[in-house]
Amino acid sequence: MRDAEAYERGFARLTAHTVDPLLNLVRRSRAIRLLDVGCGTGVVTGAAIALGAEVTAVDSDLDMLELTARRHPYATVRLATLPELPFPDETFDAVTGNFVINHIEDVPRAVDELHRVLRPGGTLALSWWKREEMTATSVIAEAAGIAVPPPLHDVAAAMREAGFSGVAVDTMRWCHRVDLDAWWTDVLAAGGPRFGVISERPPEEIERIRQEYLRRAEPYAAAGFPVCALLAHGTR
Ligand SMILES: C[S@@+](CC[C@H](N)C(=O)[O-])C[C@H]1O[C@@H](n2cnc3c(N)ncnc32)[C@H](O)[C@@H]1O
Repeated sequence: MRDAEAYERGFARLTAHTVDPLLNLVRRSRAIRLLDVGCGTGVVTGAAIALGAEVTAVDSDLDMLELTARRHPYATVRLATLPELPFPDETFDAVTGNFVINHIEDVPRAVDELHRVLRPGGTLALSWWKREEMTATSVIAEAAGIAVPPPLHDVAAAMREAGFSGVAVDTMRWCHRVDLDAWWTDVLAAGGPRFGVISERPPEEIERIRQEYLRRAEPYAAAGFPVCALLAHGTR
């Protein structure tokens, strides 16, 4: 379980950057029934509702899902873990997944499942981090000696294999400007599969890692952490 409010204060301000590009893609297919997978605290869910979509939001983490339900009472929320979804075939006009595919082990199976729940002509849009250019988290991982995760399965290839057409991948780069102390506190509190382990270490070890993080992060204090997201999209 994550501290969803810490995620919302910290990470969700970073992931919010790709919400407009994701929703611009799905708007092309006149999406009314939208599924937001790995909804987290609901950054995509809320924006899609504001655009008039009927949003179903799913996440594998109950704390995240409860916060989405509180923040966005017009969303239908369901606990669900990709690669399995509790919906009949062809239920949705569009599916968005903002930074969730990078948490999934079996990418081809997950993409097949997303294909199944989309109607013909519907749009899938998935974003993930380009790890080599994700300084906002690599400074913490390097300070803590956390191993680089294995390369992500080729998402665009999985989409083509699942039967999507017009598959393309867009690249987005920007700088994430954030107070360095607040970022450290919120990333650690939000936990998650990579950074949750830091909080389990002895207090003096955590303080040593924090100092090392601040040393590595200092060059980014003024202009922000350079980050890069990739955004794959295609039509069912
Ligand atoms: C980095 S967060 C992104 C949250 C949100 N989409 C955003 O843009 O802020 C990843 C989310 O995916 C969820 N998640 C991880 N693995 C999942 C899975 N297999 N199925 C569904 N959700 C998953 C996590 O609980 C978390 O809320």
